[in-house]
Amino acid sequence: MSEGTGIYRTFFEAEGCRSLLKKHLTRGKFEALKEKQISFGGTLDDCIRSGVENIDSLVGLYASDPGAYTTFAGLFDPVIKDYHSVPVSEPIRQPPCDFGNVNELSFKDLDPEGQYIVSTRVRVARCLHGYGFPPTLTRELREEIEKKTCEAFGKLTGALRGTYHSLTNMKELEQKQLMDEHFLFHDHSRFRRSVGGYDDWPIGRGIFYNEDKNFLVWINEGDHLRLISMQKGGDLGAVYKRLVKAVLIMGETLAFARDERLGFLTFCPSNLGTSLRASVHMKIPRVSAQDSFKATCEKLNLQVRGTHGEHTEAQGGVYDISNKRRLGLTEIDAVTEMYYGVKQILQMEKEFSEGHSVIQDNKTQNTFSGRSNIEDTVTRRSKIPDTR
Ligand code: ADP
Ligand code: ARG
Repeated sequence: MSEGTGIYRTFFEAEGCRSLLKKHLTRGKFEALKEKQISFGGTLDDCIRSGVENIDSLVGLYASDPGAYTTFAGLFDPVIKDYHSVPVSEPIRQPPCDFGNVNELSFKDLDPEGQYIVSTRVRVARCLHGYGFPPTLTRELREEIEKKTCEAFGKLTGALRGTYHSLTNMKELEQKQLMDEHFLFHDHSRFRRSVGGYDDWPIGRGIFYNEDKNFLVWINEGDHLRLISMQKGGDLGAVYKRLVKAVLIMGETLAFARDERLGFLTFCPSNLGTSLRASVHMKIPRVSAQDSFKATCEKLNLQVRGTHGEHTEAQGGVYDISNKRRLGLTEIDAVTEMYYGVKQILQMEKEFSEGHSVIQDNKTQNTFSGRSNIEDTVTRRSKIPDTR
């Protein structure tokens, strides 16, 4: 493995590559880390291959196993800080898990009239303690993870009770339907394929869902588990409360991998910490038509994805807007950050649709953090064309 040859050379010389891997993997760091081995058998190559092969990666780095975060901390730490907006001068520190008091949430329905928000989803990732991540998993280990998780499903009762559907036995048509409904994952991300994400597919993979199809668990999609709560409309409080209840129950049976400094350990460093992503699918044709749309979202610590997830396009003006930061804040803070950010985007969309003229007011506050998150001038054009 030499930075002077083959794909590494192409990567180091690639122009236009904007991934965090490219930004933080210097040639010197590569040389210093390339021979190190981790207890699960992972290597630097396992961690960086996705970003090296896919130069359009955003992050470009995956952990081969939990040990990668310490053995290759010299590379992971700067990427983690960069992604989760931890200042370079501050240490990475995940506070203890805190879902807040779910019986006293102050979230109101974000869109009670159902005009803008199609659906709301909150998910967390969990990996089982003592196992590696996709590059170091075998067929047997994936099956073991699946088996342990299925045993824990037995503890879910009432509205959370459901059935596990293994992908091994699932017809293609059923898979397609579940994917079209945004319930099921797929096996066509070249980013994950590069690092063994689909080895032995579909063995050890599957989806659990309850009768109402508003609580789901993915097994071995990338992280060992994804626990997901979702429903139509904008009632974030109901979605979050259901998720928290289910996560706590699953955690009574399963030992989740957690690190004091990094929080819940995940395959991708973008999910460390809380591993929580709270998203809405929302129709925002006017705000999204602004040149400043992505920058506005960044300032609100929001991430923009397409209708079918990451690396997809928005269809029919429907965007996936979620909290970007998952590390360095608690679970309740992450979801609250998303709530106020989405509220603000919605407010802007409403103002545009009411034909407000150019507004030079710029000190829009993120009411949750108290920081002035949009400090640039948001120039709102009058009579934005209706693109719906
Ligand atoms: P994650 O990393 O949270 O699992 P992805 O971007 O991979 O998210 O998307 C997974 C699936 O979840 C996709 O089908 C996506 O369309 C769907 N999804 C995400 N947010 C929502 C939402 N608010 N409503 C409905 N589906 C959603
Ligand atoms: N590896 C991909 C990239 O760098 C995804 C990064 C973050 N997303 C994720 N689902 N882990 O673009």
